[in-house]
Amino acid sequence: MLTEAEKEDLRSFFGRLARHLVRVLVPGAHVFRRDEPAGVASGVRPVHRAGFEKRGEIIRLVQTLRGGDRPKNAEHEFDMVSVMPRSGWEPWGLFRKPCDGRVQDNLRKWRTGGLRRLSADEPFKDVIEVAPARGREREIAAHPSLKPQALMRQLVRAALPFGEGRILDPFMGSGSTIAAASACGLSAVGLESSLEYFDMAVTAVPKLAQLKVNGDTDGEHGGLRPVGEAATRT
Ligand SMILES: C[S@@+](CC[C@H](N)C(=O)[O-])C[C@H]1O[C@@H](n2cnc3c(N)ncnc32)[C@H](O)[C@@H]1O
Repeated sequence: MLTEAEKEDLRSFFGRLARHLVRVLVPGAHVFRRDEPAGVASGVRPVHRAGFEKRGEIIRLVQTLRGGDRPKNAEHEFDMVSVMPRSGWEPWGLFRKPCDGRVQDNLRKWRTGGLRRLSADEPFKDVIEVAPARGREREIAAHPSLKPQALMRQLVRAALPFGEGRILDPFMGSGSTIAAASACGLSAVGLESSLEYFDMAVTAVPKLAQLKVNGDTDGEHGGLRPVGEAATRT
């Protein structure tokens, strides 16, 4: 659980991040932010103030090991009590930089403003069920917060409605977002402050991108063309 001071730090961090992002994103670009179920401490207001619109939440249904425990050191006495519910979902805040005119104008000019549909008959949806990354993915990328390709491919694919433009992950970790973009034929840039994780990403990205996973749609790799991405260590 976070203290009020820690929550304030988080809000201030996301405010600064949003002010940087609003400068580099094109009108209509979407931001997907992984949030926490417990109180969504990172806050919406600082992101609003930086100039973004909240466009809803994406709920990832996922069985986790968070919550559900009995009171510590009194488990036997209170064996029918869970202090917090066992969490079965993960929220992702969805934001958009305001469009330049109507959505249709923005789509024509900037190629952004909407989310790529799953198919002509099926819209992008805000509930996605994806299990945690396991097995081969974890062998390839031993990052403690590794996100599964089955989720990341759906998100990056949705973010660029025509497959044009570039995905940015400013907290790349082992590169699961970049690998997902590569698997979907999308261009991507990742930033990572830890050299250890950066080096992990350089090795992991091409291997993760080659995996065939649940969640691929429209045929192999989301129906888009695989591409390679160069990485630079600075
Ligand atoms: C939650 S992890 C991302 C994990 C990633 N989604 C994956 O699947 O591997 C966040 C990452 O951001 C990195 N990080 C933290 N602060 C950063 C900063 N200011 N600039 C760049 N990277 C940062 C951390 O080292 C960590 O690897």
